[in-house]
Amino acid sequence: MKAPVLIALALPALIAGCASGPTAEEQAAMAADARKASGALIQKLGGELKAAMGEKGPEGAISVCKERAPQIAADVSKQFNFDVKRVSPKNRNPAGVPDAWEAEAQAGLEKRLAAGEKPETLDTWQIVSTPAGKQFRFAKALPVQPVCLNCHGDPAAISDGVKARLAAEYPQDKATGYSAGMVRGIISIKRAL
Ligand code: HEC
Repeated sequence: MKAPVLIALALPALIAGCASGPTAEEQAAMAADARKASGALIQKLGGELKAAMGEKGPEGAISVCKERAPQIAADVSKQFNFDVKRVSPKNRNPAGVPDAWEAEAQAGLEKRLAAGEKPETLDTWQIVSTPAGKQFRFAKALPVQPVCLNCHGDPAAISDGVKARLAAEYPQDKATGYSAGMVRGIISIKRAL
């Protein structure tokens, strides 16, 4: 009975050895890059959203979220050689459904937030093995700030104009009912290794 046990123990080590991934240093550098990429997305989108809110109010600013958010994510993806997007278990964009890794990552970040961690440091990353090879995965929490409530808050507190635009453009919208401090979603970053 001993041999099968030994094989069972040795096999994962062998497999890990064969498909040896990035070194600890390379991993840390990727995580640092992913933090920079998510920071760039937050800064650019946040800046444009704030400007549009000031100029046109929340109803007019919806187009920034609809058109600019995916464009900015694509620009940042190119700049950093990552696949960058925003997802949420209560998604507004029909393409924003989290996969299993993303859902688990957000749940973990929510737990850390509840345990008192500051929103700014709420990120996590991992090298995962998939049938298509190893991947670097990274998630950063996007906590709800008061300004977000204009479009993601309690429906009773969202203006009629915003509600009408959202209903017209996102008939499957799940992304309302949030209060400040909740995690609205994550920036999800991926790179095939
Ligand atoms: C002016 C309205 C508006 C405001 C303010 C706003 N959002 Fe959004 N949000 C949207 C729209 C519209 C979408 C869908 C964008 C798309 O089509 O990709 C969206 C999508 C998202 C998504 C992507 C996942 C999904 O549900 O599709 C996240 C994450 C998100 N918003 C977080 C935030 C956070 C955090 C704030 C505050 C800092 C915020 N939003 C403020 C309108 C808004």
